[in-house]
Amino acid sequence: MHISACIFDLDGVLVDTAKYHFLAWKRLADQLGINFTEEDNEQLKGVSRMTSLDIILEIGNRKPDDNLKLEYATLKNKWYKEYISKMTPDEILPGCLMFIEELRNANIRVAVGSASKNTPMILERVGILNLFDAVADGNNVKKAKPDPEVFLKAAEMLGVNPGNCVVFEDAVAGVQAAINAGMMCIGIGSPKILTDAQLVIKGLNEMNLTKLLTIEKNIC
Ligand code: BG6
Ligand code: MG
Repeated sequence: MHISACIFDLDGVLVDTAKYHFLAWKRLADQLGINFTEEDNEQLKGVSRMTSLDIILEIGNRKPDDNLKLEYATLKNKWYKEYISKMTPDEILPGCLMFIEELRNANIRVAVGSASKNTPMILERVGILNLFDAVADGNNVKKAKPDPEVFLKAAEMLGVNPGNCVVFEDAVAGVQAAINAGMMCIGIGSPKILTDAQLVIKGLNEMNLTKLLTIEKNIC
């Protein structure tokens, strides 16, 4: 395999925004009288805003009409944006900047592939928007992970073949999306959860160019 590009999921890979998603969803759930726990929150990782809302409503056994659902999602996003508008570069996850710099110096292209419609705002807030050659996110794709659309879109924007891309992902739905795109996937998190990833590391601080090139050599 020849690696031409690395595509990074945003939430949980480049920045730790899962806690802000949780706080905002929890606030909505509390308001609706739904008991929503941090354990429930795991199911929301990597999936779209409306699917996340559906999961919470299912937990609370609620069936609001579409207009009310849109109202809830808009409210959650308003609270979420209040949190992310205060983010600083300190919230970039360890190892991320050094690894991306190594990739850029080695002429390996770098992109973001995220379900979040707030991707541009977050990248800008933490000061890394200009590091990426392409950004595919919830604003320019229709189908949510595990559909491969967001990663295929990133590869298309970069002008590289999907088979020459490596995806870094922390969510089960995201690992599946990478596999569905025909890309190699390195999981960020626990090997017990990300069972389908080719390799699982705890964070990008465990990755560097030398390790990536070793993986490249060993995969046919
Ligand atoms: C993903 C997160 O990256 O983006 C999900 O893991 C989130 O938790 C999804 O629901 C959509 O995000 P947003 O910012 O468009 O509501
Ligand atoms: Mg993620």
